[in-house]
Amino acid sequence: MNQLFPPEISFAGLATLLDRSDRQAPTGRPWVMANMVASADGAYAASGVSRPLSSPDDREIFSALRASADAVFVAAGTARTERYRRPTPVPALAAERLLNTPTEAPRLVVLSRSLSLAEDQPFLTGPGQEPLLMHPEGADTAGVPSGVELRAMGSGGVDLEAALRSLYADGVRVVLCEGGPTLLGQLNELDLIDELFLSVAPMLVGGTQVGILGAQAEKIRPHRLHRVLEANSFLFLTYRRDREERALD
Ligand SMILES: NC(=O)c1ccc[n+]([C@@H]2O[C@H](COP(=O)([O-])OP(=O)(O)OC[C@H]3O[C@@H](n4cnc5c(N)ncnc54)[C@H](OP(=O)(O)O)[C@@H]3O)[C@@H](O)[C@H]2O)c1
Repeated sequence: MNQLFPPEISFAGLATLLDRSDRQAPTGRPWVMANMVASADGAYAASGVSRPLSSPDDREIFSALRASADAVFVAAGTARTERYRRPTPVPALAAERLLNTPTEAPRLVVLSRSLSLAEDQPFLTGPGQEPLLMHPEGADTAGVPSGVELRAMGSGGVDLEAALRSLYADGVRVVLCEGGPTLLGQLNELDLIDELFLSVAPMLVGGTQVGILGAQAEKIRPHRLHRVLEANSFLFLTYRRDREERALD
């Protein structure tokens, strides 16, 4: 993997992505990273899933980002279509390469309004740490199996600011949001994305699943280009929105 930007700083490998020292969120909530892969024309899925857009390098970055997070935040639509499982610790070899130490698996946090989750969803009953299911107050929780913690936050939909504050109270300091676009668009609207990892796949896809923020309200949030990596024609872009960028609003 080659670092194209910034040119003056050499790239010490994917372990660089784990550095938390400059990930300081505004008071009272975790630092929020978002990770998405998109085609060059902006498609976030092909045949309904993201896998055709991804690559081995993209999956390495996906794992490294998980290793750097305390929680994975994902919307139910993505958990359903991508058949989410409970995250496992970074496999020994990769962890050794990245950190020289085994990593804890981040906790899976799934957001749903309807709580309509088919019983065969792997994250509901599979092995690994108990996931957390956040839902609005009054949702029908009857069908959720035991072994899944439920947390009511907000009415109508999960109040995302309150959700992040409650994760912070649990000790979560870095959250990795893995989408989908409907959730990312809400986070952008609320100015809750601190760092975006965007993998640009060297392909054109077309279709209607275009735009990593979905069809949420338009809200311009300036970000700063933090790093650009390249491998096998994929670009791996990191953008950050810290105090300076927020001041540009
Ligand atoms: N390219 C990539 O990197 C990438 C990453 C992730 C996903 N994807 C793709 O994106 C597509 C899914 O994205 P999407 O935008 O359609 O859906 P999504 O954002 O994954 O999920 C939407 C669902 O999440 C729940 N939800 C969202 N916001 C909520 C809130 N504030 N409170 C409570 N629940 C909330 C609701 O679940 P309920 O319906 O249960 O109420 C809602 O229907 C799939 O095709 C997936 O493959 C691509």
